[in-house]
Amino acid sequence: MKGIVLAGGLGTRLRPLTAVTNKHLLPVYDQPMIYYPIQTLVNAGIKEIMIVTGGNSAGDFLKLLGNGKTFGLKHLNYTYQEGEGGIAEALSLAEDFADGEPICIVLGDNIIEGNILRAVRAYRHQGGGAKILLKRVTDPQRFGVPELDGRRVVRIEEKPSAPKSDYAVIGIYMYDNEVFDIIRTLKPSERGELEITDVNNLYIARDEMTWDELEGWWTDAGTFESLLRASNLVAESGANKMEVEDAAQAGTAR
Ligand code: G1P
Repeated sequence: MKGIVLAGGLGTRLRPLTAVTNKHLLPVYDQPMIYYPIQTLVNAGIKEIMIVTGGNSAGDFLKLLGNGKTFGLKHLNYTYQEGEGGIAEALSLAEDFADGEPICIVLGDNIIEGNILRAVRAYRHQGGGAKILLKRVTDPQRFGVPELDGRRVVRIEEKPSAPKSDYAVIGIYMYDNEVFDIIRTLKPSERGELEITDVNNLYIARDEMTWDELEGWWTDAGTFESLLRASNLVAESGANKMEVEDAAQAGTAR
């Protein structure tokens, strides 16, 4: 399994903090934001990772991250997204990198307390299709929101005014290689972007979508409120924590 961190976009909701730099280079407590999603993948035993960046300061990612030594990696891959085409368009740039393997995508502003090792293992056993992770929130209208029927996801709505559940679809997604064909069929949404929610709904229509509930806290960090919350959560209880038994096994996973 390969990992992809999506770290493009203009970060307009964080202006003027993002007027001259990329959102994912801003601090979340004591580390640059992008450190957290990379660590999420590394803790799940994923060692082949691509960073999709774009917008301001794209070159600074190379200066900051190099070949990923900070994370115990030998190499990091990079690609560049021109413009604001959306999450699914950014993902499409990683097709050659994926090279037929299943992928785990983490949005560059998503930070978790624990790890996703169990979900990644479950996805491997699933043998194809897609998996999303859900978390109960008090403000679902800010996110992709699933309508659930027991263990089945019926549909996901992007930022609904009348949410059908109190779950958010968090920015960690697992897909097989079909995802790139699916993205080619998408049309831009009203905000002019290729939406990851449309990708997920197409997997649901194929009956190939599973979900797990994330343990531990989760936050995005793309608004002033959530950026502050992210820093406070990391300062109070730390991020990307691993259980010892999981840590020992993560190194052997592929
Ligand atoms: C994106 C997705 C949304 C998801 C969220 C998680 O929203 O479109 O479905 O719930 O990430 O962080 P955005 O941050 O682009 O508004």
